[in-house]
Parts: sequence; structure tokens; C-alpha cells
Amino acid sequence: MNNPTTETISVPRFTTLNHPADILRGGLAAAEGPVALACSFSVEDVVIIDLLQEIAPETRIFALDTGRLNEETYETAEAISVRYGVTIDWYFPEREAVEKLEREKGLFSFRNSLENRKECCRIRKVEPLQRALKGLDGWITGMRRGQGATRGEIEPLEIDTAHGGIIKINPLAFWSAEKVWAYAKQRHIPVNRLHRQGYPSIGCAPCTRAIEPGEDERAGRWWWESPEHKECGLHSRSQ
Ligand code: ADX
Ligand code: SF4
Repeated sequence: MNNPTTETISVPRFTTLNHPADILRGGLAAAEGPVALACSFSVEDVVIIDLLQEIAPETRIFALDTGRLNEETYETAEAISVRYGVTIDWYFPEREAVEKLEREKGLFSFRNSLENRKECCRIRKVEPLQRALKGLDGWITGMRRGQGATRGEIEPLEIDTAHGGIIKINPLAFWSAEKVWAYAKQRHIPVNRLHRQGYPSIGCAPCTRAIEPGEDERAGRWWWESPEHKECGLHSRSQ
């Protein structure tokens, strides 16, 4: 895959990491500085919060509030705060950019073209992410290889050259959805209700639908686009 923005850390001691807890520990040590979890309140991200309680409970958690999230996602965020006693650092898009977008292109411009969809993601997600990552030496995500065409090659630890060469830690890179759910059940972690309504992947409300049996995990994300475009820019591996 053409992959100019993300490099794998090939230091031998990291290539054998497999369990999410070991990947987290290895990633935190490799970063040698502040690291935060990017949390969308998917079951994956909550599993990571649960794991962090043992490993590094002081790890900061941030979330990007695009303004278009599902109510169920906000409810999950509140449940997580209560369960773990954590503070969520919410990042909003730039007000003027959203006002301009909505005034000039309406509220559903992302349906009109790939370019418009990426513009909305850039304003509501990518720019706020850049602010959230300022001053960090690493960030943690809930991405898994099993999450479709664009994620099959992610590594547990990567150098994120798209964000200044900081370390990107993907503790669940090798875990299947089944493993994630088994852990979630065993630990009784609060989960977004939408997961049980046919949404394995949850993003913004107008850009996410439930999937049909047999469909790819991320088939419900930007379902009108082809599979190779199903990234919003947070995790672009070729730009
Ligand atoms: S996305 O890029 O298509 O939206 P996805 O929903 O699969 O990504 O989530 C992958 C990871 O990106 C999550 O596990 C989380 O680490 C991060 N992420 C996605 N959306 C957000 C968000 N709104 N706020 C913070 N982190 C997010
Ligand atoms: Fe906009 Fe949809 Fe991207 Fe959310 S997922 S930022 S609503 S285009």
C-alpha cells in the first residue's frame, strides 16, 4: 500500500508485541513523553480505557465533538466518565469554519461529492485533531486490522509522520471484533447502544448506518462511497 504518511517502528523489541496491554506499555515507553487516547466511545476505545486503568490511569483522554455525533455516543461518554472517574477533553471544530460551511453549502454537503465529504471531515475532525495532538509525543487509537480495506496493514506501533513524527499506538491492531467483545463482556464495560443495533462502527450520525449480515465492519460508514475512500483524514495512510 502507498503509505508515505505513516511508518512502522521496526525496532526489534516492538515487532513481537501482540497483547494490547503489552503494546500499550511498549508504546508509552517508546513515546518517552505525554501520550493521550483519542476516544470515539466505540467499544474498542472503551476497552483501551479499561486497560489503561491498570497500566497508566493518568493518561489523558480526548474526544472530537464534530457537532454531528449520535445522542447514544454522548450518553456513552457520560457513562464512561462516571464508571472510570475520568475527565474527557472535548475538542470542537473552529466555529467560523463550520458557520461558513453550513451557510455556503448547507447541512448535508458531504453527500454531494467525495471532495465535499472530505472538506466536512477536515473541518469537523482533522483540524480539531491537530489541536488535540499539540504537545504530545504519542497518541493511542482503537483501530484494528479487521476494520476493512483501509486498515489491513496497520501496525501496533507506528511513527505518525502526518502529525510531526509522534508515536501512534494501536493496541488492538491484532484483535478481532470477537476478542474485543469478549473482553468488554468479561469486564462489564459500558458500551454504545448503537453497537447492539447493527452498528459495528460508529462515527457521525448522518454518515453512519447499520450494516446488513455479511457486510464489512465499516460498510455503514459513508456507505455511498467506495471502500478505499472510507477514511476521514484522522488516519489517512496516503495523502
Ligand atoms: S474514523 O477515522 O473512521 O472516524 P473510527 O471511527 O474507525 O475512525 O475510529 C478509529 C479510531 O479513531 C478510534 O478508535 C479513535 O481512536 C479515533 N477516533 C475516531 N473518531 C474519533 C472522535 N470523534 N474523537 C476522538 N477519536 C476518534
Ligand atoms: Fe462531516 Fe460526515 Fe465527516 Fe462527520 S463523518 S465530519 S458529518 S462528513
